[in-house]
Amino acid sequence: MYFLYVVRILDIYDYVAALNSSDELFVDVHTDAVENNVPIMDRDALEVMKHYIHLTGTRHILEIGTAIGYSALHMLSVHPGVSVVTLEKNEDSHRAAEANFEKYNVTDRVKPILGDAADTLHKEIADRTFDMLFIDASKGNNQKFFEMYSPFIKQGGLILVDNFLLRGMVVDRHIQSKNRRKMQARVDAFNQHIASSEMFSSFLPVGDGLLVISKNKEVKNR
Ligand SMILES: C[S@@+](CC[C@H](N)C(=O)[O-])C[C@H]1O[C@@H](n2cnc3c(N)ncnc32)[C@H](O)[C@@H]1O
Repeated sequence: MYFLYVVRILDIYDYVAALNSSDELFVDVHTDAVENNVPIMDRDALEVMKHYIHLTGTRHILEIGTAIGYSALHMLSVHPGVSVVTLEKNEDSHRAAEANFEKYNVTDRVKPILGDAADTLHKEIADRTFDMLFIDASKGNNQKFFEMYSPFIKQGGLILVDNFLLRGMVVDRHIQSKNRRKMQARVDAFNQHIASSEMFSSFLPVGDGLLVISKNKEVKNR
């Protein structure tokens, strides 16, 4: 009975994931990521994020975790007025992202920055206000990235965080590795912090878990 229940839930997840996904716009970048084990956002979560960008008329986005530019290209595709500042600490990934931005002719709308987002607050960011923050880097640093970068998001803006489910690890009670347990604890602590805060937030079970937070003046009823 329990087995059938689990199978049904997995079927539901797959069904919804397929409905939320659409034809890939950047096939070569997606293929490159898959073939070279570059971790990129799941297609269904990406489409949900793009829907939020569209719904809210978001234009100026700050991304933590560029990788090879896949999610940035998708965010830019929502509207010609969208611009992205994106931070990446791995030099090879940063260079690959630059090449992809050139290939798709978006260099005038995207500013890729090479550097450790947990270390230094780049001047390009400190001088500006963004409509949306997208956190998609080292998951154990979610809290730190949130504290460091949410002050640069306008009131009423959005903060999105990918992978709050850690591929299921966040609820795994049998983790052996100390490092993995530490990561689980840190991600869970951040999730709980947001859930118990006064900010409106939604933990969406799409992709690997997409957390959507509103940076609002109003607080939710508790
Ligand atoms: C999940 S990938 C980003 C995927 C990308 N957003 C996409 O969906 O196409 C995470 C990236 O964050 C980068 N990263 C991890 N910690 C970082 C840090 N402290 N500062 C900047 N980049 C970081 C990693 O090198 C990796 O390329």
